[in-house]
Amino acid sequence: MSPLPQNLLNLLPMAGHTRGNRDAMTCHFKCGDACAQAVCNTSSNSYFRDIANSALSRRAALGLGGVAAAVVVVGPQIAHAPSASADFGGFGKGGGKLPFNAIDPVERTVDTVSVPDGYDWAPIIRWGDPLFNDSPEFDAQHQTAAAQEKQFGYNNDYLNIIADGGNGRTGVLVCNHEYTNEYMMFDPQWQAENEDEARRIAWAAHGFSVVELTRKKAGQKWEYVRGGQRNRRITATTPFRLDGPAAGSELVKTVADPEGMTVLGTNNNCAGGTTPWGTIVSGEENFNQYFQGRGTAEEARYGIGTGAPSRGWEKLDPRFSAQNEGYENEVNRFGYIVEIDPQDPTSTPVKHTAIGRFKHEGANINIAADGRVVVYSGDDERFDYVYKFISKGKYREGDKAHNMTLLSEGDLYVARFSETSAAEIDGSGTVPADGAFDGGGEWLPLVKNGTSRVDGMSVAEVLVYTRLAADQVGATKMDRPEDVEPSPLTGKLYIALTNNSNRGASGYAGADEANPVNGNRDGHVIELTESGSDAAALTFNWNILLVAGDPAVSSSTYFSGYPAEKVSPISCPDNLAFDSRGNLWISTDGAPGKIGYCDAIHKVTLTGDERGRVEQFLAVPAGAEACGPVIHDRENSVFVAVQHPGEGGTYDQPYSLFPDFKDSRESAGLGEFYGPRPSVVQVFSTRGNNGVGFKKRAEKAKSLPRT
Ligand code: FEO
Ligand code: CA
Ligand code: CA
Repeated sequence: MSPLPQNLLNLLPMAGHTRGNRDAMTCHFKCGDACAQAVCNTSSNSYFRDIANSALSRRAALGLGGVAAAVVVVGPQIAHAPSASADFGGFGKGGGKLPFNAIDPVERTVDTVSVPDGYDWAPIIRWGDPLFNDSPEFDAQHQTAAAQEKQFGYNNDYLNIIADGGNGRTGVLVCNHEYTNEYMMFDPQWQAENEDEARRIAWAAHGFSVVELTRKKAGQKWEYVRGGQRNRRITATTPFRLDGPAAGSELVKTVADPEGMTVLGTNNNCAGGTTPWGTIVSGEENFNQYFQGRGTAEEARYGIGTGAPSRGWEKLDPRFSAQNEGYENEVNRFGYIVEIDPQDPTSTPVKHTAIGRFKHEGANINIAADGRVVVYSGDDERFDYVYKFISKGKYREGDKAHNMTLLSEGDLYVARFSETSAAEIDGSGTVPADGAFDGGGEWLPLVKNGTSRVDGMSVAEVLVYTRLAADQVGATKMDRPEDVEPSPLTGKLYIALTNNSNRGASGYAGADEANPVNGNRDGHVIELTESGSDAAALTFNWNILLVAGDPAVSSSTYFSGYPAEKVSPISCPDNLAFDSRGNLWISTDGAPGKIGYCDAIHKVTLTGDERGRVEQFLAVPAGAEACGPVIHDRENSVFVAVQHPGEGGTYDQPYSLFPDFKDSRESAGLGEFYGPRPSVVQVFSTRGNNGVGFKKRAEKAKSLPRT
């Protein structure tokens, strides 16, 4: 059943294929209808499942060497682990432990942030809030590109809240703005008459925001500072320096940038990470949807079609169509990990070609035993891969200028997983007789010591056409790798695989032990331990931490042996985070269409008797996705970027009134804008000092019937 009302179904050409998953508008605007397109990976890549007698498979089956099975490595503290704080965000002096009783799953039409007893929530900043002293106030009915460039962008995704230290009363909020939904942002009549200005507004609503924060006391609620010295907007037109081995190559030159060194803008940045040296790295994900291609094989592997994209940006700037002479390579300048320095608003953001070009979900960093920096990144597409980059240079504590060169040069690898119970994997999700979905694996080199390890491809070709390079070496086809994040406490890596309905379908790769569910609807999470607990190791062991779903209705769920009847239902794991005690936190994207509940943030215990226990902490409003969770458990706070609240609605007919719940829904026509505004929210404890002075918002809960 589509969540769209019939009048919209009649009006909107792309509304027909929700595939029982996300809202159709999310599919369209966020991913460019990726799930409705053909699978990009048509390679005959004979990954491990196809190499029945390979040495790797035999070694794995025998439990030998670096691909041994089920080794529980209780690793030492990772070398140079920068801090115990999740994502290096920093904590104040609070002594909180974030105690809570799991909430029940929330029906998908409930339009509020649902939190446990003893907690409340409030927005810190909303789409359109003014960042600078001369920024216009938000006025959706009279929005301009010039205003949007000085206001908080749309659809916040990756998030970090970084305290400055000292008295704990100042800090900075950094987040990216993945995409825009013009149906919800604009009065349709106005948009029809002002197409170019609407596109310029969309450019200005993409990118990043950096915003200073203040609070009365460490542990209390943050407020954003209008006019803060570090406040900054980065948009779809901000100059980026292209960096690394592919920068300046023929593959990235255009008529507007004959040197191939400067790219305007960043688009569709999804998840990300904060580096030990304090910069933000973020992934350009579904960048393909902004471009019109020429029909080359390389474009096809990235999902770039030849039709005119619905956003029509190529009508305003020729670089968005590769069919325009001189701009054939513009699309090769997107799909990278970008790095920005939130402490220096004058710094030039960078795109790192050394980490490869694909639909990067995000990037997260660990430091190897010898000090080299390791970047993990997933390629969020059905049957695509998990990668890691190992820097040539070494991390130097306190030397930010040096550390900001580390992502420019190094080795790039892609993961191949092997199995211990291959013969038992039938796609049903039944746990094998050895008690685990598990195995070994290796990181296969694509670029090493400055040379290509892929036949027939130069270093620049490997870094620009990374998917095609990984196809050649036999990487394992995964179920949409989202966040790939190492625990700051153990260095173990967690890989969120959000779903893949095509797994096992006719003509596609079938289930394997690392992706054990055919038609994988709800996704799963892999736990990976690098050999010797060293992030620079080239072999690893892995096991599945959980196979998601609602245990009440799904027979394929798995929670590392924890009783399924005691967990919160969970579906479509996406962003990952850790608290200071090493618990894993998972946010979801797409749960409403799968299990009928609002997207959520869950805590997952990783150790002890309760390993595998999933407890739901919050739910986001109707139509929204829970993004960028930041867990400051010592301060009893959780931060969430509420993305696309009310998606599926329109400017005239909103499906959500979050976060302000202006009650002018009954007013006809285009009165005061009352639709939803994507916002960053702080959830805080109302026990003790933390909650002093905050208005209880629970009574604002509303349920908007979807007609
Ligand atoms: Fe933008 Fe992979 O989610
Ligand atoms: Ca097994
Ligand atoms: Ca995501």
